[in-house]
Amino acid sequence: MRSLHNIALIFSFIVITKSDQKCRERDLGIEGRSITRDPPDASSYVAYTTTRAGKRFEKSNGRIQAFSRLQKELNDFNRNEENENEGPFWTRTTLVLNQNNRYQTIHGFGGSVTDAAAYNWNKLSERTKHNFISSYFGEDGLEYNLIRTPIGGADFSTHPYTYNEYPWNDAALTNFTFTYEDLFLKIPMIKYIQRVSKQEVKVMASTWSPPVWMKTNEHITGFSQLKPEFYQSFADYHVKFMELYEKAEIDIWALTTTNEPINGIIPFVTFNSLGWFPAEMMENADSDSIKYIDGIAVHYYGNFAPATIFDELQNRYNKILLATEACEGPMPWDVMRVKLGSWERAHRYTKNIIEDLNHHVTGWIDWNLCLDERGGPNWAYNFVDAPIMVIPERDEFIKQPMFYAMGHFSKFIPRGSQRISVTYPFLEFGRIDNVAFRTPQGNIVLVLHNSNTFEMDVRINVDAIRHITIKVEAESIITMEINTRLF
Ligand SMILES: *[C@@H]1O[C@H](CO)[C@@H](O)[C@H](O)[C@H]1NC(C)=O
Repeated sequence: MRSLHNIALIFSFIVITKSDQKCRERDLGIEGRSITRDPPDASSYVAYTTTRAGKRFEKSNGRIQAFSRLQKELNDFNRNEENENEGPFWTRTTLVLNQNNRYQTIHGFGGSVTDAAAYNWNKLSERTKHNFISSYFGEDGLEYNLIRTPIGGADFSTHPYTYNEYPWNDAALTNFTFTYEDLFLKIPMIKYIQRVSKQEVKVMASTWSPPVWMKTNEHITGFSQLKPEFYQSFADYHVKFMELYEKAEIDIWALTTTNEPINGIIPFVTFNSLGWFPAEMMENADSDSIKYIDGIAVHYYGNFAPATIFDELQNRYNKILLATEACEGPMPWDVMRVKLGSWERAHRYTKNIIEDLNHHVTGWIDWNLCLDERGGPNWAYNFVDAPIMVIPERDEFIKQPMFYAMGHFSKFIPRGSQRISVTYPFLEFGRIDNVAFRTPQGNIVLVLHNSNTFEMDVRINVDAIRHITIKVEAESIITMEINTRLF
């Protein structure tokens, strides 16, 4: 059984802010560092902290405090006095968890099996390869459960290619076969992942460029559109890809039929692309074409629209919103493509994931699972950063802060979790990025991100009469799993 979702693609956002440096946290792949998740006891929580200063998923725990309602009201009334021995008002805040206000259900989190990622991974020893996959997909790793993979080549390949390049104008696609990259790089990596993972890992796939004979400019990149006579062949191209991967027992869960359709329209993109204007995407169908897509995929780059556009999309179309690509370092103004140990990049990932999740996005897929120290290979020299950098000569890989940022979500927000609302009860001056979920097991998972350079005192009202107080360190990410049951 396969549930197939067609996902159209729009282009999206993130705020790119000032740069940073340092903090060389190096995690050798040899021993690895396992991350275990401890279920909290009734009326308790377990918290995991990662800080710029160097903590990585450091565990702590505590109990939910109970108050009588009257006492709570008095405390709220006397809040300033109550907190007199704590820091100044901007370092304090209160959050209210509203378990009954439920929003989107989560599909998952993950990364991309590109040719480049598989090529780097494949250079490691068997033991380190295993460590690598466990770090991302294992029970003692980040427990990723989504993968994105390109249909044919992307820029993160050693050379540009597509399926069925020859014969020319072969509308029936008579020569659609596995490539070297499928057989020896991507499929082995995906199958390895599926063996290691204890849960279903869903795979989505995207086309960058179709065979160039389908395109108006007959080139892999540059300004191009699909030749109208090949609309059907283009659709079949996707079906043939799914059939090919089915032979390797890999089910494709979702498709986006063109990666970043705007890339084939704007002049400075120099890698595999196909241009689409919205009107042409609807051609051959009618204004009802929205019926035939299950979701809308969004990417991380640029900052063209505020996240509230997702609320509008959600209200208007009620489709699955999924963030399907993100990386740091791709912009023309990014002087450093790879910035080893950058906390600033982890911080931007965290801010973006929290913002997306608070605006109906149901999952977040990172770009290349790993790259080499240069940020490649990439045939178009479009080098970028990744959460893991591989150093084959030393049989090592380095987990960057972005790796841990991803884990603060992927490890603790299981598929099927539902977002719940978090509100500020007072006119709070102290603010902290937050997002909360109710897991299928009935626990609450709350992710807090303190981007301030000072510690915050956070009071979390779990319900009308119970709360937790917790200190959130400067420049840190905390994930709390809270068991609100009484016994
Ligand atoms: C089929 O594809 C392969 C690989 O691109 C190519 O070498 C071969 O010539 C193609 N066959 C035909 C009949 O064009």
